[in-house]
Amino acid sequence: MPKKFGLNELREMFLSFFETKGHLRLPSFSLIPQNDASLLLINSGMAPMKPWFTGEQEPPRRRVTTCQKCIRTGDIENIGHTARHGTYFEMLGNFSFGDYFKREAIHWAWEFLTSPEWVGLEPDRLYPSVFAGNETTPADDEAFRIWNEEIGIPAQRIFKFGKEDNFWEHGSGPCGPCSEIYYDRGEQWGCGRPGCTVGCDCDRYIEVWNVVFSQFNNDGECHYTELKQKNIDTGMGLERLACVCQEVASLFDVDTVMNITNKVSQITHAHYGETAAKDVSLRVITDHIRSATFLICDGVLPSNEGRGYVLRRLLRRAARHGKLLGVNEPFLYEVCDTVIQENEGHYPELRERQDYITKVIRTEEENFARTIDGGMRIFSDLLAGHKEKGEGVFSGADAFKLYDTYGFPIDLTREMVEEQGMTVDEDGFQTLMQEQKERARKAREALGDLGWAGVEFGKDVPETEFVGYEHSTFPGAKVVALAVENEPAEELMPGVEGIVVLDKTPFYAEMGGQVADHGQIVIAGDRGVCFEVTDVQKNKGGKYMHYGKLVEGVLKVGDAVRAQIDGQRRRAVMRAHSATHLLDKALRTVLGDHVQQAGSLVEPDRLRFDFTHFSAMTAEELQQVEAMVNDAVLEGYPIRTDVLPIEAARQRGAIALFGEKYGDTVRVVDMGDGYSVEFCGGTHLDNTAKVGPFHIESEFSVASGVRRIEAITGRATLECMRGNCCTINAVAEALKAKPADIVSKAMQEIQEIRELRHMVDAFRAKDAMGEAGRFLMGAKDVDGLKVLTATLNDAGADQLRKMGDFLKDKDANVVAVLSSVTDGKITFLAVCGKQAVARGVKAGEIIRSVTAVCGGKGGGKPDSAMGGGSDVMKLDDALATVDDLVHAKLGR
Ligand code: ALA
Repeated sequence: MPKKFGLNELREMFLSFFETKGHLRLPSFSLIPQNDASLLLINSGMAPMKPWFTGEQEPPRRRVTTCQKCIRTGDIENIGHTARHGTYFEMLGNFSFGDYFKREAIHWAWEFLTSPEWVGLEPDRLYPSVFAGNETTPADDEAFRIWNEEIGIPAQRIFKFGKEDNFWEHGSGPCGPCSEIYYDRGEQWGCGRPGCTVGCDCDRYIEVWNVVFSQFNNDGECHYTELKQKNIDTGMGLERLACVCQEVASLFDVDTVMNITNKVSQITHAHYGETAAKDVSLRVITDHIRSATFLICDGVLPSNEGRGYVLRRLLRRAARHGKLLGVNEPFLYEVCDTVIQENEGHYPELRERQDYITKVIRTEEENFARTIDGGMRIFSDLLAGHKEKGEGVFSGADAFKLYDTYGFPIDLTREMVEEQGMTVDEDGFQTLMQEQKERARKAREALGDLGWAGVEFGKDVPETEFVGYEHSTFPGAKVVALAVENEPAEELMPGVEGIVVLDKTPFYAEMGGQVADHGQIVIAGDRGVCFEVTDVQKNKGGKYMHYGKLVEGVLKVGDAVRAQIDGQRRRAVMRAHSATHLLDKALRTVLGDHVQQAGSLVEPDRLRFDFTHFSAMTAEELQQVEAMVNDAVLEGYPIRTDVLPIEAARQRGAIALFGEKYGDTVRVVDMGDGYSVEFCGGTHLDNTAKVGPFHIESEFSVASGVRRIEAITGRATLECMRGNCCTINAVAEALKAKPADIVSKAMQEIQEIRELRHMVDAFRAKDAMGEAGRFLMGAKDVDGLKVLTATLNDAGADQLRKMGDFLKDKDANVVAVLSSVTDGKITFLAVCGKQAVARGVKAGEIIRSVTAVCGGKGGGKPDSAMGGGSDVMKLDDALATVDDLVHAKLGR
């Protein structure tokens, strides 16, 4: 029977085990790969260390151990339906960069798993496997020999598998043959099929450890070259190991994960094991909220591309399963609190960024709720239509429309349709889904991976000319293409959401961190057409796709239109963008030239700027930076933009984005005649004064070595200042002081509270001594010794100790055991007076025996000892043993 270890305990054991073997313990790397475009998200322990494997970079030590947060979303559709898979997991690993190799790696893996001092699994339940060899790489006889001769595993218990199982690689990068360790969980977990053995995909034999002898580099196209050095890359799924140790069915039953599910149950009133459908939803929510919490913590935000899209999908899928469980309000943001609680021990950044994470999740939930609510109205109309015609089947086309336009999950549609005594044409729905997937795939192939911006327009549709640097209203534009539901269309009907492509447009498409313009495309006069633009994306073909809704009239391809952006919003965006350049300049000046832009978001009067810097900025640095930007604003520097050949731009000292590709000519934005010069395609003010007041709201870390500043400009800063004034006035009123005096008044109050607390503590202590005196009077006489036990309410260890000291000083014959229960945990204190100790009664021994009854441990000296226990139900039984113990000690 394996020993039961909590997940957090196992993680710590693994890391400290490898520390004893000379490894440097490093914290988990960010989930966002740094300088590695081959991966969207970190998916294994070795992924962030590739340059150390290849020898391109020097590792901080040749032996490293980590517990790495990982995300794999390959089979997201299945998550929830099987109990075994999750998108989020932690991988334990020990790594050698050209240091030790097969022998040590195998010996240590075995020691950690089987030694009674560590995990202590039964050796007879473990089965190693080694690489059987193929045309390019020989069989791993050396690993076989180590297992067989050195570890002593009989040859018939060592399995040989091919490349599928025993050659590890993940896309491009370091890879090699591997040796895996399987654990036999016993017949009761098996499939019962004849021939069920190691390698069977049932739940009996599970792979716990993968030791990769990382000696090749794959260039991504299966060309292997020998690495300069031989490395070890191991991976052990932490949740899997916990599953084995806790003897539970799946990762969802592991202690810390189960606590998250329990929280979901508390909110949704659905319980694990009630019905298969509820289990699926509970698992989806539990898994996805784990991934989402960690992703946001590492700086990913929901969006429609890349990592942001993965995050959005996870959150929406979880929210949708919440709906299936009957929760209509945002709730995931509450669950994330439990995720943080369960993981903060190893990932303290979760708690630091809790407010931010919660805010992001909540906002996304609210956005999604709005789409769903819009869809509800359409659903009622569609349903009424079917009923009118006396149809019992809700058409696949309508179900698809709800899904596609309103993000309406089919499960939800099905449920609602069934409530009306009807059914959904699921085949029809699936066919349309399939067709859409096919279309999307083709569009992706044609356009590169643009996700939802991938509508295919004919070759005759020209590239859009952007006229938005000079114009905010452009009267002479022409509609060159339209699309509805991602399909080209000839016209748009009133009330329909779609895409408009113009030959020329003043609308800025989302790019380089700057958000898209909003506004209208109109035909004035009798036709009375108005298309409200809420987003603009430029596709690979250079077409600006104006997303929005036709609120009036009919719009046709070929129409002459006036395109007008929301000028006020655009000006606010420009304030934020010009301020971003001034901020970049100020950061380089104050912090140094190592500062590189690592991402930015420019919104109306609000900006987010990510940059490389190794430590948190001090309050002073932040103040300096803010002041420097405001000085540049007050200077009223003129802003000039030029389009220049790239070399000329570089000569002017323009700052380019690291790793970015530029064309032959570039746009250069110059503020104050060389004060700040940057490559930039965004829209800017003509004078820095127009930025208005600039204010930094926060500065924090988003990934190792990457900091983020969030700041506001113009109206947003004015608004913030007004809010602060209101707060100060309210505080002043509450403190009954003038605004100028609030700080000294608050300090004064705090001082007073502190003194009062001291007084209360002193009274309490006095009271406790009185209580102790009463205990002593009620003590039992055991052959001249005064034996007493007592349980106190909510007393801290300190209070117990004071009481104990008082008792043993007061009476040399005392033997006292005091206990207190706080937050479900028991604290024990035993004390023995001088005489009692002289007669052989020892506080340390008493504590050991008492705590053992309550599932805990403790110890100490003969006159005083402390301990703890977790089983509160057994507290009285434990205290009842004290008398007997004293009797026994006295030899009676
Ligand atoms: N990199 C190896 C894995 O992920 C250890 O399994």
